[in-house]
Amino acid sequence: MKVLIVGGGGREHAIAWKVAQNPSVEKLYCAPGNAGIAEVAECVNIGVMEFDRLAAFAKEQAIDLVIVGPDDPLAAGAVDALEAAGLRAFGPRANAAILEGSKAFSKDLMKKYNIPTAAYETFDSAEAALAYLETAKMPIVLKADGLALGKGVLICQNLEEAKAGVQELMVDKQFGSAGNRIVIEEFMTGREVSVLSFVDGKTIKIMTSAQDHKRAQDGDQGLNTGGMGTFSPSPFYTDEVDAFCKKYVYQATVDAMKAEGREFKGIIFFGLMLTAKGPRVLEYNARFGDPETQVVLPRMKNDIVEVFEACIDGTLDQIDLEFEDNAAVCVVLASDGYPEHYEKGFKISGLDRFKDTDGYYVFHAGSKFDADGDIVTNGGRVLGVTATGRDLKQARANAYAATEWVQFENKYMRHDIGKAIDEA
Ligand code: AMP
Ligand code: GLY
Repeated sequence: MKVLIVGGGGREHAIAWKVAQNPSVEKLYCAPGNAGIAEVAECVNIGVMEFDRLAAFAKEQAIDLVIVGPDDPLAAGAVDALEAAGLRAFGPRANAAILEGSKAFSKDLMKKYNIPTAAYETFDSAEAALAYLETAKMPIVLKADGLALGKGVLICQNLEEAKAGVQELMVDKQFGSAGNRIVIEEFMTGREVSVLSFVDGKTIKIMTSAQDHKRAQDGDQGLNTGGMGTFSPSPFYTDEVDAFCKKYVYQATVDAMKAEGREFKGIIFFGLMLTAKGPRVLEYNARFGDPETQVVLPRMKNDIVEVFEACIDGTLDQIDLEFEDNAAVCVVLASDGYPEHYEKGFKISGLDRFKDTDGYYVFHAGSKFDADGDIVTNGGRVLGVTATGRDLKQARANAYAATEWVQFENKYMRHDIGKAIDEA
């Protein structure tokens, strides 16, 4: 069969690597891909939002399955456009991708169907939001309704910060129209856990758990980023947490979407906070996490193409998801200055060593070939170095050892990915 993956980051590299293991995949394309993905797929120079060109290419090449990776095209209707062209596509349609695309929608859904989450109010005007804040309990959380590259969430310690936040989101429109509406939410405390799942519209199958590190600097300091590293499984995702979420969160979310006439097929990523009162949903994403995928897929035993097909066909109930009884850690190698200002175009060396070392992976997030055919840095997050191990500590030691194999100018990483493991 022929497969096209839409996207060009570390997540898509991990998906492409996994898809390529299916023996019936005779040709794999990725649009636009990157220099690492080029090792397992033919990269096609089409952007993720160019739905007409993607559909035309897929028709021309007689693609059997298109997998859409990122949130923006999903929310904007990439799957709808591909299906309208007669193609088979994996991912939620726009009316279901709204689960991630609108925080107000997802909060209202959780409230309506009693899915545990933080208390909240939604506001369409800055005046009303400011008036509400005058009597609200601090700290408090402001969230832009729409997609904002994972940066539309502001944790405000006091009234002054909260007012400045409303100004930033709703008046100055720092995230454009994503801030036309905001959710103001109760501040919660607890450990965060990410849980990815496959969904076929009615059945949900949970993958293994993971944990991200969103801040740029050690000790969870600095600005929010797309994610600086992950580990899997999370030792804090206990059987008790699992049982609670199975009872109140996972199937309840899938059933709620179905009841709303928004059948969800694809990946649901549950961002959970383990509070003193029990697990609460922080957010939903309608796609694989990045860099959660880079630690989850290397541990997955199943053929991922079979699972994608089952999601599309509505036969996920016949699949047993299985994960290795090991652990994985991913350390992101970024360009110094990320997520603000950073330079690109530096040569990357040392990548070959990953090719012949079992249990070690380098997933490219921002790389490209320069005019000489050398691989150079091409983004804030450059590489995700993943290693497995028999347990989390071993995996962490392996991953950090492998970060030393790779060199490029302005290489930057956090040194405390997985530190929480020691507290488990
Ligand atoms: P989100 O994009 O909704 O996951 O928010 C980004 C980050 O903000 C989360 O990973 C949490 O660390 C934090 N956050 C979001 N909502 C809350 C909340 N209600 N209370 C405390 N922290 C939160
Ligand atoms: N790593 C967080 C995300 O993919 O949203």
